[in-house]
Amino acid sequence: MTTRILGKGEELPYDLLLLADEFAEVIDRYIFNSQVYVYEIDQKIIGQYAMYRLSNDEVEIKNIAVLPDYQGKGIGKFLLKDADQRAKASGFKTMFIGTGDVMMMQLLLYQKTGYEMNYLKKNFYIDNYPEPIYENGLQLKHMVMLRKEL
Ligand code: ACO
Repeated sequence: MTTRILGKGEELPYDLLLLADEFAEVIDRYIFNSQVYVYEIDQKIIGQYAMYRLSNDEVEIKNIAVLPDYQGKGIGKFLLKDADQRAKASGFKTMFIGTGDVMMMQLLLYQKTGYEMNYLKKNFYIDNYPEPIYENGLQLKHMVMLRKEL
């Protein structure tokens, strides 16, 4: 299994990006300053993550997604490990990832892969999104930021 960086001239995989972040206008606030890594099977992109540099030492995974038919098969865990390796090789020391306060599966996945809850971006989903977002029957309010030392 291997990923590759998406070339500058290539189309962004919005089908995947929108699985993780519902509004293209929000994605467009970070995606053009991120490096997007894709995972392909038979030349079809089925997973991706977007890494955004916060400082010389810190980097954040702003968006990670796997196509629905391929979810639950270990690809998400593989992508998170791949991101660690790439960030470490680039000299970063700390990785962040953020998700909604009611996103239980994602919160579990990130903690299973070595992240710890670090701080909340209070009212992030209320202040930064054009419409309310509901997941698991609850409105998303705060973004939980998780952190991992590389
Ligand atoms: N139900 C409950 N837990 C599940 C399920 C499921 N159907 N599928 C996966 N998990 C959990 C399990 O805890 C699993 O750990 P385990 O193997 O020890 O049991 C863990 O997730 C890892 O599973 P993977 O198969 O590696 O994950 P997957 O390939 O499905 O990728 C991802 C995870 C990226 C979250 C994917 O499900 C997805 O694209 N979801 C929609 C988009 C999304 O929510 N992206 C994250 C938003 S936050 C952000 O982008 C920074």
